[in-house]
Amino acid sequence: MGDTNKVWRLRNRPVGTIGDEVLSYAEEPIPTPAAGQFLVKMDYLSLDPTNRLWMSDIDQYMPPVAIGEAMRGVVCGTVVSSNHPEFAAGDVVSGLGSWSKYQIGIPGYINKIGALDGISVADAFGLFAVVGPTAYFGLVELGAPQAGETVVVSAAAGAVGSVVGQIAKIKGARAVGLAGSDAKCRWIVEDLGFDAAINYKTENVPEALKRACPKGIDVYFDNVGGDILDACFKQMNLKGRIPTCGLISQYNATGEVPGPSNYPMILMQRLKVEGFIVLDYAARYPEAIAALSGWMREGRLKYRADMHTGLENAVTTLRKLYTGENTGKLMLKV
Ligand SMILES: NC(=O)c1ccc[n+]([C@@H]2O[C@H](COP(=O)([O-])OP(=O)(O)OC[C@H]3O[C@@H](n4cnc5c(N)ncnc54)[C@H](OP(=O)(O)O)[C@@H]3O)[C@@H](O)[C@H]2O)c1
Repeated sequence: MGDTNKVWRLRNRPVGTIGDEVLSYAEEPIPTPAAGQFLVKMDYLSLDPTNRLWMSDIDQYMPPVAIGEAMRGVVCGTVVSSNHPEFAAGDVVSGLGSWSKYQIGIPGYINKIGALDGISVADAFGLFAVVGPTAYFGLVELGAPQAGETVVVSAAAGAVGSVVGQIAKIKGARAVGLAGSDAKCRWIVEDLGFDAAINYKTENVPEALKRACPKGIDVYFDNVGGDILDACFKQMNLKGRIPTCGLISQYNATGEVPGPSNYPMILMQRLKVEGFIVLDYAARYPEAIAALSGWMREGRLKYRADMHTGLENAVTTLRKLYTGENTGKLMLKV
């Protein structure tokens, strides 16, 4: 093959932001697939806020990556050789793999990407592997927005948030997004059709929420936790819903994180706050993909990739999620 493998391995648990000492990047032999396995060459690596959780050993929804193990990641690639009857060289696959140029594909974790007329492999991977189903099930199932209601979403110019606001509009709701720059706020209103945007870094969030949500908040799709969650609690309507999707404001925390002081609103307004992990909906992915791809083809849903290049840049690129330097879905082309 005349090629070697390149692998990122976890060396130390991060403390605070992901330092250079956390992962190593080195050349290794290309693995050989056993019976029932296949070898995948990575084409795209999805960079996700949860990567920081997997590096740590806090209580979480999956076992953390072990020290010395190849870093876990959501990957898309091409089968180069196969010892599995249902996979052949040239198949395009995606799923849960590792930050490695070459890796062993295990069916169930890495599966074929089906035909998606009109949508490129990169876009299908970026939108359908994690982001789209997360936005779809979190908002449609748990948020259940009704026409005329107000949906607020944080990290609204990010991968999940940008899709949540657009689905809210498709469902006939008013969409209000919080994002960390004026350019992001302009993008979600002018290009994506949100009704209002709040720059949470420069505006007084409680006051801005009152202005942007004159009838209160019916659904707050929480991507960040922390102060923004607390401010939203205060303006929730009776029987409001809060799908808890992510808590990125505290993923790099080094000490105890204070709880929300407006927690009593759950009782006063009879709120439903429900956490979810998109993997819970794995069996229903086809439903989400059908809805999302249909809306894309109808021109009602826009998707934006924030594409970088080079597996060697994985860590530097990943850090952009926690500083807000990405707009749309952060990915690497390998
Ligand atoms: N439950 C699930 O199954 C599931 C699946 C996928 C993702 N998620 C969660 O969904 C959230 C969004 O993920 P994503 O992949 O779409 O990432 P993303 O929104 O594309 O990127 C993260 C964004 O978070 C914002 N952010 C970073 N630090 C922040 C802080 N301290 N306060 C407020 N905002 C902050 C930044 O935007 P600004 O410029 O606006 O600050 C950044 O662009 C994450 O919490 C992630 O863990 C959950």
